[in-house]
This record gives sequence, structure tokens and C-alpha cells, in this order.
Amino acid sequence: MTSLVTGGMGFLGSNLVRRLVERGEEVVAFDVFQNLRLLGDIADRVKLVQGDITNLNEVVEAIKVNRVNRVYHMAALLTGVDQEMPLRAIDVNAVGMGNVFEACRLMDVERVIFTSSIAVFDGIDGDITDDSPTCPVRPYGGLKLLGEIYGMRYYQAYGVDFRAVRLPVLYGAGDLYAYHYQSQLSARAALGLPTEIQQPANWSTTITYVKDAADAHIAVIDADKQRVKKRIYLVDGWHVTLEEYAKIVRGIVPGAEMKFLPKKDVMPPDKIFHGDYLRRELGWKQSYTMEQATREIVEQVRANPGWYSKGYFIRGKYV
Ligand SMILES: NC(=O)c1ccc[n+]([C@@H]2O[C@H](COP(=O)([O-])OP(=O)(O)OC[C@H]3O[C@@H](n4cnc5c(N)ncnc54)[C@H](O)[C@@H]3O)[C@@H](O)[C@H]2O)c1
Repeated sequence: MTSLVTGGMGFLGSNLVRRLVERGEEVVAFDVFQNLRLLGDIADRVKLVQGDITNLNEVVEAIKVNRVNRVYHMAALLTGVDQEMPLRAIDVNAVGMGNVFEACRLMDVERVIFTSSIAVFDGIDGDITDDSPTCPVRPYGGLKLLGEIYGMRYYQAYGVDFRAVRLPVLYGAGDLYAYHYQSQLSARAALGLPTEIQQPANWSTTITYVKDAADAHIAVIDADKQRVKKRIYLVDGWHVTLEEYAKIVRGIVPGAEMKFLPKKDVMPPDKIFHGDYLRRELGWKQSYTMEQATREIVEQVRANPGWYSKGYFIRGKYV
């Protein structure tokens, strides 16, 4: 079996590539940047393809040449980047997304999974389930919802076996996005650096360890056709305040300096997510507690301090 991961050199993509390699699959990591930061140690076990999803031919070619059976589509520009480069965000997250589905149709790919986000629920308050109405507020969430709608269209009109997962905020080693606070708190503590976050200590959000998120993709794409009732699955995780998470970090890195300031920035209000279908129908569950995940992050960051040499990424720049 050969799987192609778009955005395979990124934070989530590299973790998924690693998981697929461990399962004994042939893996193609398709990415516009050939940066081996996160995959260097297994580069000889992965086919690295430099390509841009905004170019349909490059996606078709990568699928054809490598006889790809499954596509994991996670190349995208994230919140912040989409604010700095709004037109490029449309190119990548909309046109590029369409190219990936079209390439899957043209090449008869067996299954394709799209990485969506809880940002499709930004305008909804309170508890969120798989059946909650979607209401994106920001361009990022709007383009994710467009991806879900296009994927369902490719399924209904052309029989492309489309599936999707809606992810909450991820945390893990190698994550450079400044507003992914839990990644930042754990990595900076591991490196002995103080962290100051522009959110109050009681601000909460739902987080999932990046490896559990990679496994959620595998659970959904592996599921037999008759078991896939929803096609689009909400992935939940741990609902945690910044202060609660900081306490976990301090338990692993005693004396870590973390400060929270009562000023809201880009993040939407917190809400609780219940990804019941994924657990009930497909049997996915988180394998890591927050303590286990954080301990692993601290170890990985200490082993790879160079991952953070440029600092953190916010609004198109490293700070
Ligand atoms: N990290 C999170 O908290 C989170 C939460 C919800 C959803 N997601 C989704 O998960 C996916 C992966 O996010 P991530 O956190 O790994 O981000 P990331 O920025 O680390 O990874 C994205 C990858 O896509 C690649 N890419 C960008 N434009 C491309 C193009 N035109 N052609 C080919 N490759 C291109 C980038 O080079 C990068 O390697 C994204 O779709 C994101 O929207 C992430």
C-alpha cells in the first residue's frame, strides 16, 4: 500500500508519515518545502516529493508515478499565515484542495482524507458535537468548510471515497505556531526559556496530542466503507485551562517560568467538543494522557533544540 501525504514535511504531516512508515507502508511526503527538519532521521525510508498542490499536474504526477492508493490531504496555510497572505490562502486552501480531490478522481485513488478543523464551528457557542451546525467566522474556517463541501461533492458526484477529520488545537514537539500555546509552553520550558502568553490563566481550549491526531486519520481512512457513516468526524481531546496545563509542565520541568496576561488575541472563545462518533463507531481514543504527551515533548525538544532556532511563527514571521 502506498500513501501520499500532502504537507508531509509539516508538524502533523511528519508525525503521520512516521506512523505510516512504522506500519510498513510506502509513503510519499509531498510538500512545497523540502525541509527535513522533522523527518531527517527517516528520510531514507520515505519518498520525498517537492510539489505544490496549487499545480494540478504536480499532484497528478506524484500520484501516478508512485502508484498511490491513499491520499492524506493536510497541506494548508494556517490561521495567521492566511491573514498575512489572504490570496495565497485561497490558492492553497481552496484551489489546491480542489486539485487534490480532482487528482484523486482522475487517478482513481482508493481513499482520500482531508484534514479539517474545529474552526468550522467558530460562530457556535457552548458544547459542540459532530451534529452541531457549522458556522465559520474566519477565512481559515471558511476554507476548511469549503474543503468538506467539495470533498462530499466528489464523493456524491464522482464516487471518490472522501473522508475528513475536524481537529482541535494540536500540541507536540516541532510545532512552531506561536498561538499553539501548549506546544509553546512545553517546548520553551524544555529549553529553559520563560513563556509569556497574551491570554488569561483560566482561558481554556481543547487540545489533542499530534500523535493521537495522526492516529485519528489512520482510524478513519482504515475503516471499512460500511462503517463510515459520517464521513466527517470530529476529533476531541482534553479540555484544559492554560494554568492547568502549566501545572503539568511544572510537574515535568520544575521551576519553568510561565506567565499569562489578561489580553485576548486571535483565538475564538473556548467551548467543549464531543467527538462521539469517532470513538463509538471507529474505536479511536487518545493513547496519551497530557502528562505522557508533555513528557515526550520535553524529551524530543531537548534532543532537537535546533527545531526552535528560528523562534516561533506568527502572522507570517518568526518572532
Ligand atoms: N496544528 C493544529 O493545531 C491544527 C489544528 C486543526 C487543523 N490543522 C490542520 O492540519 C494540517 C497540518 O497543519 P500543521 O499544524 O502540520 O501545519 P504546518 O504548517 O506544519 O504544515 C503544513 C504543511 O503544508 C505545506 N504546504 C503549504 N502550502 C503548500 C502547497 N501549496 N503545496 C504543498 N505543500 C504545502 C507546508 O510546507 C507545511 O509543511 C493543516 O491542514 C491544518 O489546517 C492543524
